[in-house]
Amino acid sequence: MMDMAALKLELVDMVSSAQDMTSLEAARVAALGKKGRITDLMKNLGTLSHEERRSAGAELNLLKDEISALIDRQSQQLRAQELQNRLANEEVDITLSPRPEVRGSIHPISQTMDELLTIFDGMGFTVAEGPDIEDDFHNFTALNFPIGHPAREMHDTFYLPDDERKDGEAQKKLLRTHTSTVQIRYMTTHKPPIKIVCMGRVYRADWDMTHTPVFHQIEGLVIDKTTSMAHLKGCLSQFVREYFEVDDLPVRFRPSFFPFTEPSAEMDIGCSRKGGELKIGAGDSWLEILGCGMVHPNVLRNCGLDPEEYQGFAFGMGIERLAMLKYGIPDLRTFFESDVRWLSHYGFDPLNRPNRATKI
Ligand code: DAH
Repeated sequence: MMDMAALKLELVDMVSSAQDMTSLEAARVAALGKKGRITDLMKNLGTLSHEERRSAGAELNLLKDEISALIDRQSQQLRAQELQNRLANEEVDITLSPRPEVRGSIHPISQTMDELLTIFDGMGFTVAEGPDIEDDFHNFTALNFPIGHPAREMHDTFYLPDDERKDGEAQKKLLRTHTSTVQIRYMTTHKPPIKIVCMGRVYRADWDMTHTPVFHQIEGLVIDKTTSMAHLKGCLSQFVREYFEVDDLPVRFRPSFFPFTEPSAEMDIGCSRKGGELKIGAGDSWLEILGCGMVHPNVLRNCGLDPEEYQGFAFGMGIERLAMLKYGIPDLRTFFESDVRWLSHYGFDPLNRPNRATKI
């Protein structure tokens, strides 16, 4: 009736050369479908003699079973391969909630830090870090706060219980009261030119509308042979204009005092308070935003740098304050209360990334 062996070869070849599920399905239809090769032959069995029908029928059934089994195996293999390809090529962010109604939001502090980083990265700063648990040297002494100086008291320092070394104040461990500690850590381990920012938690024993025992600061430090007060002014003016997204934001620098800078200044930005509403931009009022100055020669010396050779500027500011001003958040304490309603109101969409600043 026909060459069973040749038909088998042909069908096996057709099935095993199918490299995806669509062509495998096409092969299945061509072999076993209503008008497939085997089905056609089955239909013809009625035209054969009794004897021929018995043997041809048995052979055809066997072939049908073999081809079906082959298709099953091929299908399993193709599915496994498809899964491997998907695993290799698809990315799943398992930190995103599959339930949009409970999707978390980015905390305003994280958002503000991302924005600050974007701006300072654009100006060529790199990021430095330091520990939250510090010693007196890095938090005060090296920053030109002499022992017993009243400025130390103003920091409302949290001291840790004395450790094994009880040989005086200089060894005391404390929670850093400002990120200026990182200036010292960086200058004692890196050679100029230095251009860093550091962001992180700082701690002071205080709690009211405008003070919390923990808050965040950003600190900047630029040291080389020629950096001057003019660079400080240019850098910080550009920074506030980018951060508040006001191209012509007025700025002014007022003389101030910090032990670790000389001269020292505070920077204000222009605002208006008409009708009791604070608006950042040109206006008849000013808002203090940060502290800054030229790094004090004693600080350079304390870090092993020669002030005759090196100079530069530093600045520091509170991150909560920056976030409150930009996003109209009235109470500092709410940042730390983990109130979901507050977070969903003031938080940011996790899928929105702060843009690289392009202005100026
Ligand atoms: N460390 C200061 C504070 O916590 C902020 C500061 C002021 C940092 C002036 C600086 C600076 O680097 O130059 O109040």
